[in-house]
Amino acid sequence: MKINLSQLAPRWRKIVRDIGQEADRQGVFAYLVGGIVRDLLLKRKDLDLDIVLETDAIEFARKFVQGRDIRLIPYSEFRTVSLEYPGGIRVDLVTARKEVYPRSGALPVVSPGTLQEDLFRRDFTINAMAIAINGDRLGELIDPYGGHRDLKGKRIRVLHDQSFVDDATRILRAIRFEQRFGFRIDSHTLKLLREAIVKNVVDNIKPARYFEEFSKILSKEPSPVKALTRLSQLGAMQFLGSKKRPDFRLLQKIEKGLPRLIKNKICQWQDRDLIFLMGLFAGLDSAGVERVTSRFQLSRRYRENLILGLQKRKIAGELNSSRLRRSQIYEVLKSLDIPSLVFIRLTVVPRIGKRIDQFLLHGRYVKLKIDGKDLQRLGVAPGKRLGEIQNLLLQRKIDQGWSTRAEEIRQARQLIGQE
Ligand code: CTP
Repeated sequence: MKINLSQLAPRWRKIVRDIGQEADRQGVFAYLVGGIVRDLLLKRKDLDLDIVLETDAIEFARKFVQGRDIRLIPYSEFRTVSLEYPGGIRVDLVTARKEVYPRSGALPVVSPGTLQEDLFRRDFTINAMAIAINGDRLGELIDPYGGHRDLKGKRIRVLHDQSFVDDATRILRAIRFEQRFGFRIDSHTLKLLREAIVKNVVDNIKPARYFEEFSKILSKEPSPVKALTRLSQLGAMQFLGSKKRPDFRLLQKIEKGLPRLIKNKICQWQDRDLIFLMGLFAGLDSAGVERVTSRFQLSRRYRENLILGLQKRKIAGELNSSRLRRSQIYEVLKSLDIPSLVFIRLTVVPRIGKRIDQFLLHGRYVKLKIDGKDLQRLGVAPGKRLGEIQNLLLQRKIDQGWSTRAEEIRQARQLIGQE
């Protein structure tokens, strides 16, 4: 079967053509492989361009980039190389290889192989297809394991029975693809997956590596809640370290409310996984947060926000009084980071949520136009009192909404005069 490569975006089409022509020049074969092939057949957009070469990819790339404006980042251990084009486009070139897993969860021992062997080392049949990009087979779909049939039958199927034992991250990947595409994990594969869960193959893998694959559910998938629900049903959430079922109502609220906040640029798409994590870890105490932070090697920012997220009840309590000035809301919220603010915003009752919205949309942007020097010129000595006056001025500005510098000076004079 021939695949029409003109479906690719023009920029990518050119890159694929250039690499194909270089492969012709060097007398080797090159193939598009993995997610991009699957997504071309599904007529979906893919963000990664992966190319397999039946030759050493690093040497191939060294010759290819000569005279071109492309940065080359080689990874000699796996004989792969990333090409970075101006404008940030990244293409991964891989030396076709076979892999042997010395024991479950260990990194595989790799050696050069054929395309067929390279496809066989992959997770699922739908990800184990290639499209030739040069020579006589240009455009031809290479599908030795029935990936296209499974794609049409909407099935996730492993290539061999050891797959989940070799690499436990495939448990997460199976569920991620199943939920993303609305497919079903084929019955034999599901049996193997359940066995792998019962046998705790997850324990054979470094927690941080497993967690990295897990966070793709939170950062990339259209509905993390669907995939998390399925994981939970299969008993595959234990690795997070809690026997309790996650609070799915809370996670639903996040999934429902977050797109609007991202659209309005209140928070960024990149913070999505962190905000979901706050939902998943909401039942922990601070010792629990420290435990997961070190087990999964989470960054300082993640740790800090997870800890801030634990203050939700206290913050909601402080924002619950019937009368609150805007400046009082500001005082409660000013030290929170955006992800924790957003998490709290999405999971409190609407009345308190509105107060947080006010802060997110307006309050947090209010700044004084005059500074310490201006106050000194008005006669305030440097020191603690100066800071207090600045604070009082800011509170008044937030509550009264004035905007000019002249008004700030007038108000400052008034405050100083009251001394
Ligand atoms: N792969 C694998 N086993 C893994 C990870 C990756 O076999 N544990 C293979 C699959 O062939 C996959 C390819 O490497 O298609 C690229 O991996 P990745 O970029 O993680 O997956 P994509 O299929 O591109 O998924 P996504 O659309 O989520 O980026």
